[in-house]
Amino acid sequence: MTPTRVLTGITTSGTPHLGNYVGAIRPALAASRRPGVESFYFLADYHALVKVHEPARVQRSTLEIAAAWLACGLDPAQVWFYRQSDVPEIPELTWLLTCIAGKGLLNRAHAYKAAVDRNRGEGEDDDTGINAGLFMYPVLMAADILLFDANQVPVGRDQVQHIEMARDFAQRFNHLYGEGHFVLPEAVIEAQVATLPGLDGRKMSKSYDNTIPLFAPREQLKKLIYSIVTDSRAPGEAKDTEGSALFQLYQAFASAQETDAMRQAFADGIGWGEAKQRLFERIDSEVAPMRERYEALVAHPETIEQQLRDGARRLRERYAVPRLRALREAVGLRDLGARASGAKAGKPASAPLPVFKQYREADGKFYFKLVDGEHVLLQSTGFDSPKDAGARIAALKRGAFDAADASVVPGNDVGVDEIDAALSALRAAAEAK
Ligand code: TRP
Repeated sequence: MTPTRVLTGITTSGTPHLGNYVGAIRPALAASRRPGVESFYFLADYHALVKVHEPARVQRSTLEIAAAWLACGLDPAQVWFYRQSDVPEIPELTWLLTCIAGKGLLNRAHAYKAAVDRNRGEGEDDDTGINAGLFMYPVLMAADILLFDANQVPVGRDQVQHIEMARDFAQRFNHLYGEGHFVLPEAVIEAQVATLPGLDGRKMSKSYDNTIPLFAPREQLKKLIYSIVTDSRAPGEAKDTEGSALFQLYQAFASAQETDAMRQAFADGIGWGEAKQRLFERIDSEVAPMRERYEALVAHPETIEQQLRDGARRLRERYAVPRLRALREAVGLRDLGARASGAKAGKPASAPLPVFKQYREADGKFYFKLVDGEHVLLQSTGFDSPKDAGARIAALKRGAFDAADASVVPGNDVGVDEIDAALSALRAAAEAK
């Protein structure tokens, strides 16, 4: 059986906090212990440069995050553990993907759009203070994922759009240069506690300054937990678990049974002070042994440096270098003496053809779309009868796509020549029958 590849990265822009632990490190390490899984964990230090322009902070954060993974139980002999900037094939692939990525798709990335909206709100030019790295962020992330054919990517909800974009780039690349170059990755969100609330109840995030460092010394951990925002209900009054940051944090560390007991305690009017004490004890009991290992690791950065370099060296040899060799060949960065082969040279003979799919919507109308795998090439508007829709499909199959026809529109960022190519592939297949 081919193993499932699970890959995730943490941006090295801060100190690891409980949100990173619950949202990424813990589920990733649990997944890596399942049989039939090959895991890739890396330090996304190129991503850090988008936001952090303080070299010492990037360095310190890289050390802390690497030490955190190791302290939490990562075994570099069992999983691929590396630093993004030690794998030059990642930025190289980023460029290949940049040249097929739709700019319109990148315009719609949440992080970039939020930055533009902030500028507009402040009456600034759209792109004031926005570097091109922020704009390209999803492409670099796609390269991280696609280079290693990751099947599953455990991430927080805020990152799901990035995985969808990686799929989009993979599909485009496959469509242009031959099916089978890239595997389409899927986002995996831990169902129970995908995002952890921070001290103020919003998502725990460095940018909100509401984090609890994963390896804060015991006394500081206690102080931070006692500063979690709660409502003003007195001991004895029933408390809501719904919307309670304290409860959600507890749930993220407790068993189902313990969580039920806490839910009961809320209903019975547990005082906030006592609830915080229980939360503190619960978290500290999980974190304390790891904290001790962490402190020992951080005291020896040269050991971690060696482990990271070694990981990247083996990974490049095994996957990244041969992979880029094949991809360069696929796009035409080739030995000039070699005989030219076409764009789809890599396409196996049995590559699936694009298909027309017909369906009915809740509005009672009849629709169709032309899809290539999961890539929507054409989308129709609603027709009154299936016959009308069928007639339109037949016309498309016979002739070329007419961009002026308003009853069918290209899918997101799909070019007319891509549609024409799909239609002519269908015609060629029909003739060959
Ligand atoms: N963007 C991710 C984050 O901020 C970090 C990241 C970079 C990543 N490359 C990745 C996560 C590839 C998963 C896969 O959380």
